[in-house]
Amino acid sequence: ATPINCEPLKSLVRTVPDFPKPGILFYDITTLLKDKAGFAQMIDAFAAYYIDKDVDLVLGIEARGFIFGPALAYRLNAGFVPVRKPRKLPAATAKVTYDLEYGSDSLEIHLDAVQPGQKVVIVDDLLATGGTMEATTQLVRQLGGIVVGLGFAVELDFLKGRAKFPDYDVYSLLHYN
Ligand code: PRP
Repeated sequence: ATPINCEPLKSLVRTVPDFPKPGILFYDITTLLKDKAGFAQMIDAFAAYYIDKDVDLVLGIEARGFIFGPALAYRLNAGFVPVRKPRKLPAATAKVTYDLEYGSDSLEIHLDAVQPGQKVVIVDDLLATGGTMEATTQLVRQLGGIVVGLGFAVELDFLKGRAKFPDYDVYSLLHYN
């Protein structure tokens, strides 16, 4: 199937200059999410792309992957798993630490969240450098899951984050340069 053209949704994404730091242009999807037609089109586009991939689980990355990941999971008849910042999950976890521009960050997943062989789509609002998503793919591999797709609402093409994922299917609704 041809992917749905999401280009019209760009008018619903708000850009905020100098957030969270000077010089950063923030792509704010809250204005898309609150628009009932826009939100439906967003989920429809993801669902159309993944519906034939036999997805068992949608993994959402904290925080904004939590907002639309569950709606997609529902549409795919899949479960939803949160990938969280450290010390938020109550049961035993796997943890991955990854480098940031300054310092490092970590993400955790419950050890029993993904069973070996389960097919997983990981979603987040934004693909920038790809560091966050790369760390999450490591968690899934550690648990024996099969990553069948990486889905983003917004991709910043100029940061070339996509290059971190030569072996994965990367699908972004909206591209910015
Ligand atoms: C943002 C965004 C992605 C990540 C993308 O999260 O929501 O998770 O950065 O950047 P990368 O591709 O360079 O890794 P943020 O760090 O703002 O955390 P938050 O969602 O908890 O606010």
